[in-house]
Amino acid sequence: MGLMPGTTDSFYRIQKLPPYVFAVINEMKARLRADQQDVIDLGMGNPDGATPRAVVHKLIEAARNPRNHRYSMSRGIPQLRREIVKRYEKNYGVNLDSESEAIVTIGAKDSLAHLLFAVIGPGDVVVSPNPAYPIHQYGVIMAEGQACMLPMPDAATFLSGLEDVYRGGTRPKVILISFPHNPTTTCVDLNFFREVIRLARHHGSYVVHDFAYADLGFDGYKPPSILQVEGAKEIAVEIFSMSKSYNMAGWRVGFCLGNAKMIGALARIKSYLDYGVFQPIQIASIIALRECEEDTEKIRALYQRRRDLLVEGLRRAGWPVESPRGSMFVWAPVPEAYREDGSLEFAKLLMKEALVAVSPGIGFGPLGEGFVRFALVENDHRIRQATRSIKQFLARKPVLAGK
Ligand SMILES: Cc1ncc(COP(=O)(O)O)c(C=O)c1O
Repeated sequence: MGLMPGTTDSFYRIQKLPPYVFAVINEMKARLRADQQDVIDLGMGNPDGATPRAVVHKLIEAARNPRNHRYSMSRGIPQLRREIVKRYEKNYGVNLDSESEAIVTIGAKDSLAHLLFAVIGPGDVVVSPNPAYPIHQYGVIMAEGQACMLPMPDAATFLSGLEDVYRGGTRPKVILISFPHNPTTTCVDLNFFREVIRLARHHGSYVVHDFAYADLGFDGYKPPSILQVEGAKEIAVEIFSMSKSYNMAGWRVGFCLGNAKMIGALARIKSYLDYGVFQPIQIASIIALRECEEDTEKIRALYQRRRDLLVEGLRRAGWPVESPRGSMFVWAPVPEAYREDGSLEFAKLLMKEALVAVSPGIGFGPLGEGFVRFALVENDHRIRQATRSIKQFLARKPVLAGK
């Protein structure tokens, strides 16, 4: 029997995309809030801070100029590409050609989805750690590639899994990685990237590094760029996002940098799909990259303080969690007593009983089960309130058990 028209299953690609697990949590949160319940939302990684003022002012000024109301350039205006290249030179000592090795994208998500669309064909294998940011897996599936998920309890285990893939005779077209890692918060040093690049070069794979949390390293740790590895740009690109480094998530500005062949492919696809980000936003982004280093440092320090509050608070609540070296998350194992029911049920319970929203690990892929992710996107006071409430909830467990 054919598929029913009108149902989403009748569309070839949509059949492969399950509904977002996070939607269940979001709906529950909306219902509770409609009932006047004060839910503390540590679910989605949506920065709560304001974009730097100088950037907003530049946007307003540029938006007043009718010349900026026309179609822009799909690969981004040259001044903005030059500015990101300067930032890479200054921060990482990496030299890039702003014409052939840098492209502006509509956030990192556009970079990732369309780069995979450009580079991956039917059956091409893409290796990435799991759990992961959903587009890392579904971008591959949408491009009709084969997503090969390797467990990542730590970076070394991922690396040895990757070696096993090659040893087994599979030659992935792309290795897709992202550090500091969402959701596990795993961080790596430059030697890890050296090893990935070495393996990929040896076996003829490309590497894509999603660097969305480039500036969110704690306690003196500075996340490295994969392009710092000598010769990396012969096979690798890095995706940088304005969303977290400058509190510009809603503005939708990111970049893909490095390997000219992959960037050329992405530019070609994008030339059919879009006319670039609204030009005043691109102009304002130049100001962010050029003048807002101090704001980035403040954002980093804020997440570090929130991390400390949340980790200490959870530990006091009898829930031991690891303190991350980077990212804007805490990745917490579901407490033993609740593990059997799975991370989604636990997240629902936490919302109902403690009025705290978190993301269930299963939403990041099968290997995310057994964990929940806290995003550090509420203020100090609310984080303290959340941990107090969680403490009370966990203390009630004996009563809840068996219900
Ligand atoms: C790993 C990762 N990549 C990309 C993104 C999205 O970045 P952008 O807002 O630039 O699309 C996120 C956002 O949460 C992320 O966690």
